[in-house]
Amino acid sequence: MTFGPIDPVHVAAEDRYARIPYRRTGTSGLDLPAFSFGLWQKFGTDYPFATQREIVLHAFDLGISHFDNADRYGPPHRGAQQNFGAVLAKDLAPYRDELILSTKAGNPIGASPYLKGGSRKSLLTSLDHSLRDLGTDYVDIFYHHSPDLETPLEESVGALVSAVQQGKALYVGLSNYAPDRAHDAAELLRASGVPLLIDQARYSIFDRNPERNGLLDVARQDGFGTIVYSPLAQGLLTDKYLQDIPAGARALNSAFLSPEVIDDTYRERASALNKVAAARGQSLAQLALQWVLRRPEVTSALIGASSTEQLDHNLAALDFPDLTDEELASIDEHGVHGTGQRR
Ligand SMILES: NC(=O)c1ccc[n+]([C@@H]2O[C@H](COP(=O)([O-])OP(=O)(O)OC[C@H]3O[C@@H](n4cnc5c(N)ncnc54)[C@H](OP(=O)(O)O)[C@@H]3O)[C@@H](O)[C@H]2O)c1
Repeated sequence: MTFGPIDPVHVAAEDRYARIPYRRTGTSGLDLPAFSFGLWQKFGTDYPFATQREIVLHAFDLGISHFDNADRYGPPHRGAQQNFGAVLAKDLAPYRDELILSTKAGNPIGASPYLKGGSRKSLLTSLDHSLRDLGTDYVDIFYHHSPDLETPLEESVGALVSAVQQGKALYVGLSNYAPDRAHDAAELLRASGVPLLIDQARYSIFDRNPERNGLLDVARQDGFGTIVYSPLAQGLLTDKYLQDIPAGARALNSAFLSPEVIDDTYRERASALNKVAAARGQSLAQLALQWVLRRPEVTSALIGASSTEQLDHNLAALDFPDLTDEELASIDEHGVHGTGQRR
């Protein structure tokens, strides 16, 4: 009997570090790739595992060494980490030292009071499950996923510090924290000897919060980096919804992007931005990614993709010249904060 070479173990591209610049994370010693890859959507049981594996391995070949996960990602919850763990075990284990793996805890994953929130119990239990799901002894970055105003900040921050002291995480991060709470947490963490590495916040041409509410200023002053999620506004800042909603698109498949937001106002603004991009010889997606990376406080743009072609296309954003003041003004005119968000 003979066996064909089905799914051979992946050998990473030798030129992977020639493709993408790395940027320093705040005042830490850690560099992150300008693009990081997140497994929030289409990395559970809702998408073929073979495609997920292909995307993850392609990302790594492109120099994207940072993969972002959370206990919540699936479906079901924890599913994305288990799928990533399968790729890690089969293909990426020899490269573990080259990977920056992050996970998050604190958003609800069940009815139990210990499966949500920022208590020490909830955060550290989740981390243990995540390590098991991922099949690794440590994550590189452990995040509190969202602020929990009913738990003392000292307790949530203390759990992050413990994760590092126990050798289960190398660095700690916060996500979705308001700037003043991020600042308070950064002070507590600094005093504990485990400085805040990074804050994860939503930022795009259609969501200006991090620059409007001062988060980017706080990051600069306190010396932590930022990694910005949904820089393509989940696909709204690409050309895919300009005419219609294509089959298979996130707007038809996700509770987090409603087709209702794809209305005339959205189309008018996105089409105008598409013209700004076209005048530069690039796509709207490439323009949107360059736009978030223009800020020095942004360490990395945290993108998703449902195909390797999207990844290739998006990384080509790095090949274009910087945005001019005139182009930035046009983007401000049409990139109205709140576009594409449910009111
Ligand atoms: N901390 C938090 O609370 C939080 C919240 C949300 C996300 N995140 C993190 O951020 C990561 C990225 O978020 P995101 O997926 O919303 O980012 P995004 O980059 O704004 O959106 C990615 C999606 O846009 C579509 N797309 C990408 N490139 C495209 C292209 N060139 N042409 C057409 N469509 C394209 C794809 O969706 P389809 O092809 O499926 O339509 C893709 O999955 C997540 O995986 C997660 O790690 C964190």
